[in-house]
Amino acid sequence: QQKERATLLEANGYASKLYRYVLRNTEAGKPAMDYLRSRGFTDKLIEEFGIGYAPSRWDTLTQALQRNGFDPEEMERGGLLLKRHEGDGYVDRFRDRVMFPIHSGDGRIIAFAGRLMSAGQPKYMNSPETPLFNKSRTLYRLREARGAIRKTKQVVLFEGYVDVIKAWSAGVENGVATMGTALTAEHAAVLRRFADEAIVCYDGDNAGQAAAYKSLPLLEEAGFRVRIALLPPGMDPDEFIGEHGAEAFVREIVEGAVSAVKFQLIYLRKSHILLEDDGKIRYLREAVKLVARRDSPTERELILRELSQEFGVSLDALKQEAADIRRQEK
Ligand code: CTP
Ligand code: MN
Ligand code: MN
Ligand code: MN
Ligand code: MN
Repeated sequence: QQKERATLLEANGYASKLYRYVLRNTEAGKPAMDYLRSRGFTDKLIEEFGIGYAPSRWDTLTQALQRNGFDPEEMERGGLLLKRHEGDGYVDRFRDRVMFPIHSGDGRIIAFAGRLMSAGQPKYMNSPETPLFNKSRTLYRLREARGAIRKTKQVVLFEGYVDVIKAWSAGVENGVATMGTALTAEHAAVLRRFADEAIVCYDGDNAGQAAAYKSLPLLEEAGFRVRIALLPPGMDPDEFIGEHGAEAFVREIVEGAVSAVKFQLIYLRKSHILLEDDGKIRYLREAVKLVARRDSPTERELILRELSQEFGVSLDALKQEAADIRRQEK
């Protein structure tokens, strides 16, 4: 087992070297380089993140691995090759994709994510679960971000690889992303070793906001103080940085992230119509329910005061309602 892991690590290192070489030094890599440029990737970013390109031929890596004495069957278990559907032999798993390596805590490459350069499915192809790679524990960029996370006691969670990369270039060095899966309790536990506060910076579309909403209890149960970064509707961090620049991203989006309960209230509002008293009362009841669950009396009072002002309801009435809910839920 130990021996197989070592072999797979070596093969991943070799594959990454090949992908990087093809991107930088070959004719086949030119369209990928153009693609990266068009998305604002500088040489520095391409280097820092070890980005490469898997050529479109069926067996470039297969052949190269074989020449170097790697056993194709083992390489298939490691996620680099696939068995041919028809006939004998193996083919490359990643073809015609821009390749992002994923590192373990000790800096070895344990998996890849490959992006298509044009529309098509799947947009990202990730390595499968292998003896090296467990999706529900792995976080993209954790090893490199760890120092900054420790120092700031803060981690910024992104949905996408490119979001992490562009945020890094904007000066946000404590960013990580899940591997195309939802955040798990295991992810939260890993991150909690380094940080007290989590800033969730997911895409501004419905899927991203729903995922942010779901991540709240998970992160709070792990002991994080949580804030949510609000992106303009339909925009993701990469797009925001491209459009508004690094400084606006850091100041308005990351530093302007709102508290968990504020985000829950904003989220709740989307499903309520507040024109009639009926609707207002229903919204307020649920809003107060969310506030009542906060442990801090100061936080509860602060939010209730805002609600009271906004809806012209006395603070006493809202406090009373919150107290009732707290008693019932105990
Ligand atoms: N993802 C995936 N497989 C897909 C689509 C998405 O694994 N077919 C994962 C990737 O980790 C991706 C993340 O989900 O980075 C977020 O998806 P999305 O917002 O659609 O992609 P972006 O990160 O915005 O990718 P890009 O900017 O390259 O279009
Ligand atoms: Mn994304
Ligand atoms: Mn998304
Ligand atoms: Mn996105
Ligand atoms: Mn994007």
